[in-house]
Amino acid sequence: MTTSPADSDNSLQCPLEGIITLRGLNLYYGDFHALKEVHAAFQQQTITALIGPSGCGKSTLLRTFNRMNDLIPGVRITGEVLIDGKDIYAPETDLTHLRKKVGLVFQRPNPFPLSIYDNVVYGPRLHGRPARRELEDLAEHSLAAVQLWDEVKDRLKTPALALTEEQQQRLCIARVLAVEPEILLMDEPCSALDPLATLRIEELMRELKKLYTIIIVTHNMQQAARVSDDTGFMYLGELIEFGETGQIFTRPRDEKTEDYITGKYG
Ligand SMILES: Nc1ncnc2c1ncn2[C@@H]1O[C@H](COP(=O)(O)OP(=O)(O)OP(=O)(O)O)[C@@H](O)[C@H]1O
Ligand SMILES: [Mg+2]
Repeated sequence: MTTSPADSDNSLQCPLEGIITLRGLNLYYGDFHALKEVHAAFQQQTITALIGPSGCGKSTLLRTFNRMNDLIPGVRITGEVLIDGKDIYAPETDLTHLRKKVGLVFQRPNPFPLSIYDNVVYGPRLHGRPARRELEDLAEHSLAAVQLWDEVKDRLKTPALALTEEQQQRLCIARVLAVEPEILLMDEPCSALDPLATLRIEELMRELKKLYTIIIVTHNMQQAARVSDDTGFMYLGELIEFGETGQIFTRPRDEKTEDYITGKYG
């Protein structure tokens, strides 16, 4: 029996290059194999949703895109994560630059106990010594991009923690935008928000994808179906299926995907 190269799983699973391309990515927490041979390509200026049951590696996968897992002791990674064609795990990678380019928005809004203004300009101040005028422009631009400017422009010096949860999450997105990233990673960004605030953040994501590439982890399958262009389904550390969102939700190729989206488990 002969096996041609075209028969190999790899060429089938990873047909495309993307702004982020994963090739044979594995991650271990000590002895625990948390990501298993993941192949995928995330396309520029699209929203990709990562779905799957709890503990299947969605957050772990997201954190490999800006090397946040490096901060966890005992983590070992093999395979490749290419961003704009460059392996971000190569020794010459500048981590500060990488984390500016690939920003992370957390599950719960986590503004610093500072004013609204000081939150937004936190990153730019950390990375350099911009002039005051430049910071003011950046603050206005970033807050306008998350549709918060009109609401807060008259109280920029008041505490960020006095804002509503939704406003705080918008502010946290603005804080990431202020360092001018290309890719936005969002780990369940709406899980602390009510349904209407959730819809408004989804609307914001659709606006932001005109300029940014967005990867969102969500437990909310309706959200994945509403907001994303592509969807990846993860199960026990494997990326079982990755493709166009309409196809994943209407004609999944894998039985495990179908069982999950139809609510048989998870
Ligand atoms: N710092 C860590 N040390 C050891 N194991 C970890 C660590 N972080 C996550 N894990 C394990 O790795 C697996 C994947 O976890 P991860 O948080 O990526 O899953 P998830 O899909 O994001 O889950 P959830 O939907 O609950 O957020 C789980 O079994 C988890 O217990
Ligand atoms: Mg998670």
